[in-house]
Amino acid sequence: MTKIKSKKLNRLELNQEKFNQGAEDFEIWFKNNENLFLTELNALAKMITKPEKCLSVGIGNGLFAEKLDIKKGVEPSQAMADLARARGIEVKAGKAEALPFADRSIEQILLGTILAYVEDKQKAVSEAYRVLKKGGEIIVSILPAESSFALLYRLAFLEGHYRTELSPKYPYPMDFLAGTDWLSTEELIEIMEEVGFKNLEFRQTLTKHPKYVNDEVEKSIPGYKKGDYVVVRGEK
Ligand SMILES: C[S@@+](CC[C@H](N)C(=O)[O-])C[C@H]1O[C@@H](n2cnc3c(N)ncnc32)[C@H](O)[C@@H]1O
Repeated sequence: MTKIKSKKLNRLELNQEKFNQGAEDFEIWFKNNENLFLTELNALAKMITKPEKCLSVGIGNGLFAEKLDIKKGVEPSQAMADLARARGIEVKAGKAEALPFADRSIEQILLGTILAYVEDKQKAVSEAYRVLKKGGEIIVSILPAESSFALLYRLAFLEGHYRTELSPKYPYPMDFLAGTDWLSTEELIEIMEEVGFKNLEFRQTLTKHPKYVNDEVEKSIPGYKKGDYVVVRGEK
C-alpha cells in the first residue's frame, strides 16, 4: 500500500493526495469486500430513481456509478476521475463546495460517502441545492459518526493500526482515515433541512458488526437508527 508523505496540507489537498496515491487500493478494497459493496449498492439503487439524470459528486473511481447507470460526475482527485472515465463516465474536475454547473440545471445529485472528506459540509449541501432544479432530489449516503464502522475507524486512526479481533478481514486502507470527519445522521438532517431540502426519506443497511458485514449481501430497510450505512433523500 502506498504511504502518504507527511507535509502540511489542507483537507482538500490531503484528500486529493491520498485518493490520487491510493486510487488502486480503493478499488482493490471494494473487490475484497464484494458483499459489502453489493449491500451498499442495493441501498443506493432504491433511492436513485433517475440514474441517467443523476450527477455523482465525488464520484471516485466510478465503481458505484457504473453499476447504478450514472453517466456523469465531479471529482477532485485526478487518479480517481481517470478510473471513472475509463468506465465510460463523463467526469468534470471540481469539488462539492463549488460545483462547475449552472443554477437549477440538474435533476438528481448523489453525494456518495464523500461528506466525511469535505471540509465545509453545509456549503457542499447548499451547492447541490443551488444546481438542482425545483423538485430535484439530493441523495446523500454516509457512514454515520455513531456507526460501528466510524467508531472502528476512529479507534484504528488513534491507535495507528486495526485490532484484528475487532476488524473485518480486509479493513479499509488506513491512509484513507487521515483527515476524515464523520458526521452523525442527525447532523446531516439538520444541514439538509437548514439548506431547504424537504420530505426527507431514509434507508439503512450494514446492520451487522463490521467484522461480519462482508459475510453476505444485505437488503436495505427504511430508517436510520440501526444501519452503519445510511442513505438520505431530500427534495428541493
Ligand atoms: C470514499 S470515496 C467515495 C467515492 C464514490 N462516491 C463512491 O461511493 O465510491 C470519497 C471521494 O470523495 C472525493 N472527495 C474528497 N473531497 C471532496 C470534495 N471536497 N468534493 C468532492 N469530492 C471530494 C475523494 O476524492 C474520493 O473520490
